[in-house]
Amino acid sequence: MKSINAFQRLKDNNEKIAMLTAYDYSTAQVLDKAEIDGILVGDSLAMVALGYKDTYNISIDEMLIFVKAVSRGASNSFIIGDMPFMSYNISVEQGLENAGKMIKAGASAIKLEGCNAHILSLVKRCTESGIPVLGHLGFTPQLMNTIGGYKIQGKTSDKIEQILESAKKLEEAGCFAIVLELMPAESAKYITENLKIPTIGIGAGKDCSGQIVVTDDILGKFTDFTPKFVKKYANLHDIVSNSVEAYKREVKEEVFPSEKESFWLDEKERGKLEGGKLKV
Ligand code: KIV
Repeated sequence: MKSINAFQRLKDNNEKIAMLTAYDYSTAQVLDKAEIDGILVGDSLAMVALGYKDTYNISIDEMLIFVKAVSRGASNSFIIGDMPFMSYNISVEQGLENAGKMIKAGASAIKLEGCNAHILSLVKRCTESGIPVLGHLGFTPQLMNTIGGYKIQGKTSDKIEQILESAKKLEEAGCFAIVLELMPAESAKYITENLKIPTIGIGAGKDCSGQIVVTDDILGKFTDFTPKFVKKYANLHDIVSNSVEAYKREVKEEVFPSEKESFWLDEKERGKLEGGKLKV
């Protein structure tokens, strides 16, 4: 899947869109092989890969390193570069320039959080310039301080209407799809049914046009916290931890490296080493 048209086609055919995040080359290779519908190089990597407590501390230049790694690993996939905090908030020119850097780094599209007059102008300028934009509404981590924390959004009819109104404006401005994060399933369903473009849910129930989750969450690799909406398909944390312990034990007990994992001199050269002295 290489273009935004595939997103719309899947929605129009009532086929769900399956997206995941990736931050590195080898994970990207796995997602590419699985033909996942879209790969987001999310700014969640600030927390998941870099250990920050939120997503505020990552810059556009840092994001570009991860976008390049993912694009080398997933050359057949539709890759979306997540614009980090303050890389698009200052002016339309700043946002457009940084969006261009994402595309040059190998992304096919970008993602922006929120909806206000500035965001709408930027969405228009990006799409007019050939840069597809994925919107992001509901809980928007980059706006956490003004939202008042990590909170479920769209819990009352007027809030649902507000989100739908923003979604329609983003659709009108040119977004090819919108992420809906952390909201009651009924709210996301209502918003999805009233849009032409697809919605991609995360913690927003099953009736969005598609789903996205953080890959490290569903693989059980990131364990600092696990949101309620995460289903674990593996427990990589335990697998990695057991493997590291086994390696350490084997080194201490001189089990690793064995003959099999070692290189050996040929017989003639070995002979020269006999007696602990090198006979040249
Ligand atoms: O940064 C991120 O990974 C996201 C998601 C939608 C998962 O924004």
